[in-house]
Amino acid sequence: MIREEDIQKAAEYIRGGRLVAFPTETVYGLGANALDSIAVARIFELKQRPSFDPLIVHIASVDEIYSLISSNDERILKLAEKFWPGPLTIVLPKSTRIPDIVTSGLPTVGIRIPHHPIALALIKQAQVPIAAPSANRFGKVSPTTAQHVRKHLPGVDFILDGGKTQVGIESTIIKLNDKGFDILRNGVITREEIEKVVPYAPETRDSKTIIASGMMLSHYSPDKPIFILSDKFKLEKEKAGLISYTGKHTEGYKKVIRVSQNGDLLEYAANLFAAIHQLEESDVEFIVAEPVAEVGIGMAIMDRLKKAAYRYQKEQQENN
Ligand code: TXA
Ligand code: MG
Repeated sequence: MIREEDIQKAAEYIRGGRLVAFPTETVYGLGANALDSIAVARIFELKQRPSFDPLIVHIASVDEIYSLISSNDERILKLAEKFWPGPLTIVLPKSTRIPDIVTSGLPTVGIRIPHHPIALALIKQAQVPIAAPSANRFGKVSPTTAQHVRKHLPGVDFILDGGKTQVGIESTIIKLNDKGFDILRNGVITREEIEKVVPYAPETRDSKTIIASGMMLSHYSPDKPIFILSDKFKLEKEKAGLISYTGKHTEGYKKVIRVSQNGDLLEYAANLFAAIHQLEESDVEFIVAEPVAEVGIGMAIMDRLKKAAYRYQKEQQENN
């Protein structure tokens, strides 16, 4: 249980330039005052995050956005009305108020209003926008509990423990362009839902100058090898931990984690990272995860799985 004093202390820490890990509805964030370059630099240091990977800025209400961006695009309000607070990050032209370190020198900034009472209370009390990447060491699987944060980042100044996060995978990231929006990272808010508000207008790869970690081929790399289950290869089940979505063919594995009881993709997303963390800490030698169809939320799940497995499945992917 989070007490009012904890939020107050965390807000003071943020204002004082320190780092606070806090729950959002997606994953835990590692927050700092987004207007304080030195505090933001500490995020990069603690996460061992390369300086070219920009951070998302979290705010508590839409009116705060206008001092942070240099645009009054009316599509922002339409999107905000439909999806905020919630797991959607919108990349927009930044104002000079946002230090360059936050955006890794890009002229744009990713902004979202999280849908989590603790995150919202923290931002409101801190009275500053909060820059926060996921609270894991760079390249590792994002934390969905306070324990995961402690494991990865023992050096964090303070953790607000809000239990397990609900959505479980990171926000959908979109960028607005002249014609509509492009998706930089898939999440539980799907292209189909966003298309009801703004047309989908993907940019060519070249014009996506950076390259959200959402777009890197390898990311979310667990400490144990992970594979996407496939008929194409034989595996030694007795050494493996299975992340099971359908509950079928689970016999013979050393460990099985059911990520969904009734075939619900939202449940798979919510439990995926926690299952990886749990199997990493267990005595299995490697992890296999059951794939799902790449449509809707399945896109976001498969995106995380492919990135986690990339290192190990490179060969297999090349053959496809
Ligand atoms: O759900 C989430 O988005 C979580 C919670 C804490 O809000 N945050 C999160 O942050 O996943 P992070 O830093 O792990 O991933 C943010 C991604 C990065 O890969 C970064 O490259 C991309 O957002 N990004 C941020 N600003 C961008 C910009 N201006 N242009 C393109 N990509 C950007
Ligand atoms: Mg991350």
